[in-house]
Amino acid sequence: MNEWPSAFSAFLAENDIDPEVYQGQSCFRHVFLFAALLGDVQETIPEAQPHPFLKDFVSVPAAQELASSSLFKDGQILPMEPCSALAVLNLELTPAAHVLDLCCAPGTKLALISKLGAASITGVDIARHRLSAAVSVAKRFHLPRLRLFLADGRAFNCGPHLIESPTSNAAPYRELYPTGGPRPHYCSTAVKRFPGRIFSLYDRVLVDAQCTHDGSIKHVRKMMAASWSDFDSHHYSNDGLKELYTLQLGLLENGFALLRPGGILVYSTCSMSKYQGEHIVDQFMDLHRHDATIERPNCPDGWPSIVQSDHCSLRLKPSDLSGGGFFIAKIRKTHNNQDK
Ligand SMILES: C[S@@+](CC[C@H](N)C(=O)[O-])C[C@H]1O[C@@H](n2cnc3c(N)ncnc32)[C@H](O)[C@@H]1O
Repeated sequence: MNEWPSAFSAFLAENDIDPEVYQGQSCFRHVFLFAALLGDVQETIPEAQPHPFLKDFVSVPAAQELASSSLFKDGQILPMEPCSALAVLNLELTPAAHVLDLCCAPGTKLALISKLGAASITGVDIARHRLSAAVSVAKRFHLPRLRLFLADGRAFNCGPHLIESPTSNAAPYRELYPTGGPRPHYCSTAVKRFPGRIFSLYDRVLVDAQCTHDGSIKHVRKMMAASWSDFDSHHYSNDGLKELYTLQLGLLENGFALLRPGGILVYSTCSMSKYQGEHIVDQFMDLHRHDATIERPNCPDGWPSIVQSDHCSLRLKPSDLSGGGFFIAKIRKTHNNQDK
């Protein structure tokens, strides 16, 4: 491990992360079969094989270039790590669900949510350049009933948009989003074209929070090659980390405020640090004993890189089958007894 910058090694030590979890070069990368079949992928990539634990996921050699393939350009396949998909699967989506993705860019989970089915999807991200990538994903995969907002997820407060028939008393787009108020940065055609209604709370909320990305060794290597000192001073300094924990808790709090009673919120990060996973969720639960319960996330049986702990959450170690290290917590909003 002496190849790592000292700040990263110190970060691992301070966070009780065993450097061994990163051992071994990943042999695979993974794609979700958005519109293609396994055979279509195998025609281009003969080594492609089904992921052993996730339906509609295919593993291809790690060195496989995908961005220039027509399967990708035509929106047939969605490159995505299996651990990320687990976060989305734990939302327990239904076709009637209005879903909020509070840290949505570049839009990978957004695309999977859309494919699995939802009544409407709202994506929010604070970074304009990253939201542009989410717009490209929305266009490439033709994601319907979608709005994307450029906003701070800690303060965002626009409810879901229900598209209605012209015979109801629904309002046109320009009345729903008057100039000067919160307006989508991008929305799919149906949202603009058909009358609708905005109501208050979402059925499902995903908070895939900003984190130190240390679960993704690919990301750490990229940072080492490009702009490690910026990344280091921003993310791994004590001040940077404190700011990050506050951001993560703030995003979780606001996501929860926008969730309806009975609804499910999934909080996830690609960090192996318990300060960004278990501790954030514990702080949140301490403040929400009266209106939240934490449920053990679902995971396909036999997945080898799962770390079971006393904490009611899911941890995945970086591995070939998971793609990266990941943390997932599933929180359900209960009725607030204090309000009764
Ligand atoms: C882990 S990435 C999300 C990845 C995304 N869910 C996906 O699957 O493609 C975290 C995102 O949080 C965004 N972010 C950071 N601070 C934010 C804030 N205050 N409000 C909303 N988004 C924020 C970052 O710009 C970044 O795109």
